[in-house]
Amino acid sequence: MKILVTGGAGYIGSHTLLQLLGARHEVLVIDNYSNSSPEALVRVKKLAGSGFKICEGDILDTCFLNTVFTEFQPEAVIHFAGLKSVGDSNRDPLEYYTRNVSGSIGLFRCMQQHNCSRIVFSSSATVYGEANYLPYDEAHSLSPTNPYGRTKFFIEEVIRDWVRSWDGSSAVLLRYFNPVGADSSGLIGEDPTGTPSNLLPFVSQVAVGRLDKLIVFGDDYNTRDGSGERDYIHVEDLARAHLAAIEYSWENSGCEAINVGTGRGATVFETIEAFERASGCKIPFQCAPRRAGDIASSIASVRKAEQLLGWKAKLNLEQMCQTAWNWQKNNPYGYVSTV
Ligand code: UD1
Repeated sequence: MKILVTGGAGYIGSHTLLQLLGARHEVLVIDNYSNSSPEALVRVKKLAGSGFKICEGDILDTCFLNTVFTEFQPEAVIHFAGLKSVGDSNRDPLEYYTRNVSGSIGLFRCMQQHNCSRIVFSSSATVYGEANYLPYDEAHSLSPTNPYGRTKFFIEEVIRDWVRSWDGSSAVLLRYFNPVGADSSGLIGEDPTGTPSNLLPFVSQVAVGRLDKLIVFGDDYNTRDGSGERDYIHVEDLARAHLAAIEYSWENSGCEAINVGTGRGATVFETIEAFERASGCKIPFQCAPRRAGDIASSIASVRKAEQLLGWKAKLNLEQMCQTAWNWQKNNPYGYVSTV
């Protein structure tokens, strides 16, 4: 299949490229590198041993998009490009609505003009908000609690309406739980700009000596040990889910939201212990009050992914920590370590 990947140089995009190339799909990546590095794509090419096209540009630039569609004529799109910081989205919601929502609509318009009717969209479990029950299944109510989460929710709704209006079109909305880990080569991985706000990148940077200690946000949750519980999913498993989803979209029409998680939760303390075992490094930490907007537990029901996509996570928390550490110790400052 000819697949256009927006935001392909990012953390999840780069790992997904490896899967797509491994399955011999023809790929074109567009990225504006606003939160990613071209070095990631150089390394993907090296790892995959095969090439793909790259165009630097922005999804808000309709002229650029049009040229890309005219020249490449993609049969499907995997849409990762977007902003993803909850904190920044609270500070500058209009930027988030412009880049994520308007940017996506521009992309969909261009797809429609060029008769490209299949899409896999990078959504998030954050669309669910506070849990009414656990695990979250895809029928759980949607009530995101911050502008970033609402951009994902709105885009999902736009796609749903759009697919309904276009016979034969197809969309898979992948709702990621907590993606962590890295490719086992240690060549590509998560490279956040500034101080990480997510747990695993923060712990990795403590282990490698870039940060002094972890602050545990809340030890008084109603969980096994009082710390927050999340469904961490290895980025390689998540990347495989994209491959399964794009192939599903080839065979099926309509719009499906699908959770991507393991169905198992780990608390912050359990994650620290797993990382210590994997790295052999002690992770100093200090407990502090809960972070605003955080929930106690988030765990996916993975039944729909198994049923529709025939996909199931294979890698466990130890492997997530081992590969995250392997990436971090080989690239202590991320991609800039070598560029
Ligand atoms: C966060 C976002 C979510 C987004 C997801 C993307 C918030 C409130 N939520 O989810 O919208 O989709 O990232 O990956 O930002 N923790 C610490 N210390 C830290 C960092 C995190 O104790 O320095 C704890 C958190 O309280 C939580 C767990 O670790 O219990 C996981 O946190 P994180 O990695 O930020 O993910 P989410 O909060 O699930």
